Amino acid sequence: MGFISSIRIWVEKYKQEHNPKKNNTFSKRIKYKMDSSNTVSDTRSVSVSSESSISGATSNTNYKPGHKFEAGRRFHDIENVSYFFPNDDDEVDRLHQQHWIVRHIMGGNYQSPIGEELKNGIVVLDSGCGPGTWSLDMGEMYPNSTFHGVDAYPVFPSEVKPRNCHFQTCNIAEKLPFPDNHFDFIHQRLLIFGLTRTNWRDAINELLRVLKPGGWLEILECDIEFQNEGPKQHRVMDAIFRAFSKKDMSPTIARELGPDYLQPTGQLEVLNDKLISFPMNHGGKTGSLFWSDFRQGCEALHAWVQKEDKGFEDLEEYKSFMSECAAECTEYKTNMLWHCYSAQKKQSI
Ligand SMILES: C[S@@+](CC[C@H](N)C(=O)[O-])C[C@H]1O[C@@H](n2cnc3c(N)ncnc32)[C@H](O)[C@@H]1O
Repeated sequence: MGFISSIRIWVEKYKQEHNPKKNNTFSKRIKYKMDSSNTVSDTRSVSVSSESSISGATSNTNYKPGHKFEAGRRFHDIENVSYFFPNDDDEVDRLHQQHWIVRHIMGGNYQSPIGEELKNGIVVLDSGCGPGTWSLDMGEMYPNSTFHGVDAYPVFPSEVKPRNCHFQTCNIAEKLPFPDNHFDFIHQRLLIFGLTRTNWRDAINELLRVLKPGGWLEILECDIEFQNEGPKQHRVMDAIFRAFSKKDMSPTIARELGPDYLQPTGQLEVLNDKLISFPMNHGGKTGSLFWSDFRQGCEALHAWVQKEDKGFEDLEEYKSFMSECAAECTEYKTNMLWHCYSAQKKQSI
């Protein structure tokens, strides 16, 4: 049985046991109204419910997806790529699992109104696809559509993959290896730890260049300034924020993307921002699964965290501190807010 099938069985079993409507996550929609001058007024309504394959085609000119080892983990070593996380097998496993957790909390793989088009057959880009789990899942669900995943480092499958899924390496903050107006739908998820503020502007310009007029761009990002954060979790996040600021990255990019990056392009007909609260170690199975993913993520960042907070130099001590954070998040009912932007490119600009 393949990895995807076994994970899917697990997810189906999990879904039967845990009705998402019963969990205490909430979602909220912000709709930006676009007028001809692209000024924004947001009409807000709130609804509350309770060692992988490393071969693959490369595309940017002179692009070399190298790597290095640090503190026993494998990291990118690529010019102009600032990504924080490792790219070894443990991290690839984490990203696969994370996909199913995110899909469950979000209630699906996308929010844009493109279900019929996907069934009929369209061309889709998965920008910063990681191991390609979203594309592989979507490729199986929509056999008439074609999925192209790009990532800085080739942890995606190169040979054993569905016929409608294609992957290649490139830096998404540089020129994408696709012609203008090529894709009907573009999906990008969790690049917060990969893109500097300048990278975000360049990447969004490129994504809009390769998106067809009338096509949809969907960006899903988490805000790592948490709601109801306790002092222990704050200490870990403080170290991560310091590492972010040294690279000109924003820990609150998720909330900035709509007003400061997407809307000012002047290229969008529609721009929606859906806010979803992810519970951290409270609220039942969803909260504990998401915590487990988050905790593994924090441990994967140990190489960075210990540089910013010398008290975290010892990995075992850092891990036991994360156990204290777990209890604290339960007590404080800490949440992480995610923003799902769904934007339609104007027919003519
Ligand atoms: C947290 S992972 C998310 C992967 C995938 N989008 C998902 O949600 O499962 C972020 C991915 O972005 C990739 N990445 C970071 N910076 C990048 C860049 N400048 N160009 C292309 N990919 C990049 C990393 O290699 C990593 O695979």
